[in-house]
Amino acid sequence: MENILMNVLDFSHACEIFDNTKKISDDDINFILKAGKKSTSSFGMKPWKFLVISNDELKTKISPLCSEEISISSSSHLVIFLAAIESINSESQSSNSKSVKKGSPADKLEFYTGVFPNHPEDSCHSNENMYSWPARQTYLSAGNMMTAAAIKGIDSCPIESYEKENIEEVLGLDTSKFQIACLLPFGYRLNEQSSADKESLDDSIEFIK
Ligand SMILES: Cc1cc2nc3c(=O)[nH]c(=O)nc-3n(C[C@H](O)[C@H](O)[C@H](O)COP(=O)(O)O)c2cc1C
Repeated sequence: MENILMNVLDFSHACEIFDNTKKISDDDINFILKAGKKSTSSFGMKPWKFLVISNDELKTKISPLCSEEISISSSSHLVIFLAAIESINSESQSSNSKSVKKGSPADKLEFYTGVFPNHPEDSCHSNENMYSWPARQTYLSAGNMMTAAAIKGIDSCPIESYEKENIEEVLGLDTSKFQIACLLPFGYRLNEQSSADKESLDDSIEFIK
């Protein structure tokens, strides 16, 4: 099992160009998405939405708005991670909490808010944090999706340099509810590509005993 995980992590790299003749099957993309949905999140609120784009016309509109243009246009599926702003605003939390069952996300939120009175209000007190708090959590689901993809021999390329407002406009998003957190195209590598040395940062771990 340990070797399997290390091999999968070694396989995973930022794929610069995919083979646009190869498409991911429905079963495999659903497997990847399931790994994202099962990911953990603060309060278990899963403050995200995944847009799964396989439409070539739409990918062509989005690709010039990203740094890694070719990895978007050549991908089989592009997943856009949205930070679900509305799900964490205090009005929707209190209206949710009136009708929720014990153990549900809003119920947990009420419990933790009692224990740590300023959390997550502190985390979300500004417009910037209303975005960054859920956006940070989408990266956990993105990581799990990348690992799930690699298990299936599928490549990916996380992208965070893109024209956020312009892509939100192309997608017709209501940005008071959802904003883009990151982009993750999936597909099959066109050729072997160089990858960063994943073990070079020996000083990245420090044990304190
Ligand atoms: C969160 C995140 C965001 C990234 N955003 C970009 C990006 O916007 N443009 C890009 O060219 N590469 C992007 N990358 C790819 C990294 O540059 C790449 O993963 C890194 O060079 C290590 O290479 P490897 O993943 O092949 O080992 C991103 C990677 C991560 C993890």
